[in-house]
Order: sequence, then C-alpha cells, then structure tokens
Amino acid sequence: MDHFQYRDGVLFAEDVALPTIAETVGTPVYVYSEATLRRHARVFREALSGVPRTHFAFAVKSNPNLAVLRVLKDEGFGADVVSIGEARRALAAGMPAADIVFSGVGKTDAELDEAVEAGIGQFNLESEEEGIELARIAHEKGLTATGALRVNPDVDAGTHDKISTGKADNKFGVPIFAAKEIFARLAALPGMNLRGLAVHIGSQITNLDPSRAAFGKIGALVAELRADGHTITHVDLGGGLGVPYRAGETLPTPAEYGALVAEVTADWDVTVMFEPGRVISGNSGVLVSQVIRVKRGANHPFIVVDAAMNDLARPAMYDAWHDVVAVEPKGERLTANVVGPICESSDTFAKNREMDAVETGDLVAFRTAGAYGATMANTYNSRPLVPEVLVSGDRYAVVANRIEPATILAAEQVPDWLK
Ligand code: LLP
Repeated sequence: MDHFQYRDGVLFAEDVALPTIAETVGTPVYVYSEATLRRHARVFREALSGVPRTHFAFAVKSNPNLAVLRVLKDEGFGADVVSIGEARRALAAGMPAADIVFSGVGKTDAELDEAVEAGIGQFNLESEEEGIELARIAHEKGLTATGALRVNPDVDAGTHDKISTGKADNKFGVPIFAAKEIFARLAALPGMNLRGLAVHIGSQITNLDPSRAAFGKIGALVAELRADGHTITHVDLGGGLGVPYRAGETLPTPAEYGALVAEVTADWDVTVMFEPGRVISGNSGVLVSQVIRVKRGANHPFIVVDAAMNDLARPAMYDAWHDVVAVEPKGERLTANVVGPICESSDTFAKNREMDAVETGDLVAFRTAGAYGATMANTYNSRPLVPEVLVSGDRYAVVANRIEPATILAAEQVPDWLK
C-alpha cells in the first residue's frame, strides 16, 4: 500500500496533487511520500516481531536523500552504508554511529580509518585482507573495531544477473567453505571484535526459497563456529526483498519473509540484523515527468518525455519495468513507446506498452521509483541532476535541488597549456 492515489481524476502524493509540484518545482522531479516510507518501515519491523532481538539498517544506497534518512531515523532505523559518503549522510541525518553497518568490497584504508574514528557499529568484512587492515587501523588507534564476516553462501537468488550477489563467482563475501578458517584467523587479531556473520544474496528477490537455503547454511556455520569456541552474537541477513513493479504482480510479503526468518533463526540466539532498501523506499516514490511531444513511429507512437535514462537508469540498465501512468488520465488507452530525449536507444522506459493515452504537455508518473532512482541519476547529455521533493500530508518541500548544468560546468576548467 502506498499513498499515491487518484482523487477526482488527479494523481496525488498524500494530500498534494502532483501537478502542483510539477508547476512549482518543474519536471522531471522525484516525489516521495513520508507516510509511505513510515508505513513500509513499520510493516517491515512488525513482520519481524517474531524474532526476539533485531536491528534494522536501511540500505542507504537505495535512497540516500537526507530527508528520507531522517524519516527512517525517526522510525528507529540505522543504516547500511557502502562508502564513507553514505556513512556521513547517515550521521548527518542523526543516526547514531553505533546503528550504522558498513558493507562493501572496496572500503579503502582512509574510509576504514574515518569509520573507526566515528565509532561505526559494525563492519561487514568482505575479505580476510580487509579484516586484517581494519584490525590494524583500529589497533594502532588503541581501539577495537566490531566486525561480522560476510559469507558468500553460493546460492542463486534468482534475480537479474546484475543484482545477484550470493553466487560463488560474485565478488561479495568470503567463500563459505573457507569461512571457518578465515573467521578464526580474524577473530584472533588485536583490534578486532568479530561478533558474527553477514549474508546478502541479491536484490529484488521474488522467491524466498534461495533465502531459506542461504540462511540455513549460515545457521549451520554459526553452530560450527560456536563449537570451535567462538562467541557469535549477531547475524546480518542483508536486504533484498523484492517489491511489485507491475500492477497486479504478487511477491512474497514482508510477513512471509518475517515468518521464514523467525523459523530459520529460532535457535540461533543472536541479534538478527536486516538491511532492507527497496522494500522500504521503492513504492514510496514516483518520478513525475512531462510529455514533450508525441512522435509518430513506424509501429507505435513514441511518447517523448522530459525524464531520461540519466534520471531513472533502471530500464536502460536492467530492462526493468516501471509502470507509467497519466497523472490526469482521460480514460483512453493506447499502445506506445515511452522514451527520453537522450541520444541513444537505451533511453527507453517502455516498449509497446499499453498505457493511459497522453498528449504533449501532459504529466506522467513512473511508479516505484523511490529506490535506485534519484541515487543512480547522472548528468549525461549535460542534463540537470534531477530534484527531489518530500510530501507529508498537505505539505511538501524540495529536499534536493535541481543541479543545473552551469553548476557542473563551473567545476570544470581548461588547463593552462590549452589557453
Ligand atoms: N545489503 C547489501 C549488502 C546490498 O548489496 C544491498 C543491495 C542491500 C542490502 C539492499 O538491497 P535491497 O533491499 O534494496 O534489495 N541498482 C539495482 C539494485 C542494486 C542492489 C545492490 N545491493 C536496482 O536498481 O535494481
């Protein structure tokens, strides 16, 4: 359930009509609903109420906007970050350092250093090499870093290949067959408090069987590590739960996921940690765009909108489907291609799509754009960086400005020898 609903034929974000935002802020523009973010955070937490000790870390990569992070902080969420930049955002949003989990295969020494100083709560270690570096950095400061070893369980999550992370040939984590030995070596290092394991098998998971298989392997490893005398207090099960992108699509619900986790972890006696991103932010946002013109095509018409693949990259990158709806539908339907103005054919949002009929000047909304939308935007073709708006009831505010090409141009210079 989200708070983007039609009222008297106009699509609203909570109590604000989207055309009002389009008029005042311009298009394209991302619009987030605070009530939806809060609702998703609560539904997810509630779904896991069968697990006695939990920690929720919002995957900042899915939507790093400062205002969004503030809402989730308010809901008691910490953050899962994958760069020091994301960590700074989470801290700027007021999240306690202790509630932040630092993941990622390529944490640099400088990043580890700053994160240790900041008191980041848990480092999810992706390799033995990284663990050795982290222990050294912390030890030299007279500090102890808290870690969890990320294990690659060699399970196929059945997601799009580009967002699968838990197969043996993916770059993430340490191979499960080597995990026991690596854990023992890292746990013995001064400067290191290795307290558990982490796993994340992929994103936009639409079937829970691979999660069950992966979690089962982690549970067995927890038992083996304890039998070897290690203390395991935390297990991070990552994120990945999928969301419906098409009207009518059915996916595993947070409740089903929660029931699976409660069952699989029943005798683990640990704090179970989660890193949900998309399931919280995905349906909390839409991308509003205006139709520049409708162009006749050889087969179906091309609806050229003012959003492009630089604003919403998912269709171009992953062939992802986003529902496209008219903000003020006229009741007619047509079959069309929805494309942006960028000079390459991958700048296509929908092909041969049956959708609301729209004409020049009309507004459309790309649904389920709150996750991996604005955060993956860029300025290709010297287009502005897309702005973001947060709605709360009948209020709305710009929470990220449109960054104009002139600002980006001002950061470039011609070297002396070319002058
Ligand atoms: N934890 C880790 C270690 C991750 O790598 C990810 C996502 C998450 C949590 C959050 O996953 P989520 O709950 O959002 O599925 N850009 C792609 C998705 C990339 C996901 C990368 N990792 C897309 O637009 O579909």
